[in-house]
Amino acid sequence: MQIFLDTADLDAITARLPGGLVDGITTNPSLIAQSGADIFERVKAICEAVDGPISAEVVATDLDGMLAEGRKLRALADNVVVKLPLTRDGLTACRTFAEEGTPTNVTLCFSANQALMAAKAGATFVSPFVGRVEDMGGDGIGLLRDIRTIFDEYGYETEILAASLRSPDHVQSAALAGCDAATIPPKVFDQMIKHPLTDSGLEAFLADWSKTGRGGLV
Ligand code: G3P
Repeated sequence: MQIFLDTADLDAITARLPGGLVDGITTNPSLIAQSGADIFERVKAICEAVDGPISAEVVATDLDGMLAEGRKLRALADNVVVKLPLTRDGLTACRTFAEEGTPTNVTLCFSANQALMAAKAGATFVSPFVGRVEDMGGDGIGLLRDIRTIFDEYGYETEILAASLRSPDHVQSAALAGCDAATIPPKVFDQMIKHPLTDSGLEAFLADWSKTGRGGLV
């Protein structure tokens, strides 16, 4: 399963690259605005730092605007994935980009029908928003399962990129639902690695070792 960081914070990204656990980055207009950076400079810098798909989102809402912005973003680097909203014009832009060989991430997906339409439009990734579905009292993980079933049933190759994931449990459920990728905030990335029993177990091992009076092994 691919793990993407959902952030435009370059320091937060570079701090998590050693170990090779980060497969790509997703950004959105809110995250770019929060970073305070120029979108083109920041996306280019992220693309240089990370070897993997980097989703950069358009802000236009009309077809021509989305095509123009998407092409400008795509020209920044070979690993740019053009992120488009799941609207009628967004899907039309997605189809055009698919025909041009430009990878896309269709975002703001809240239903299996929307995901089906994104797949039919030739999306590379579709991003169902688990946390926001749950915010409305819905079944975000059930949504992932439904999309997986439909894509498998009809052989769609569009990758399911679980988004709006807010806890390690969310990521585990997305993995069990058969998602191809999960995008997570840096904090959740860190939480996935930590476990209190790992910490206390290591502490006990080292305490026992120190009683031998021996130091490190080299
Ligand atoms: O990937 C989409 C994500 O940025 C949305 O997360 O927590 O704002 O719903 P959230």
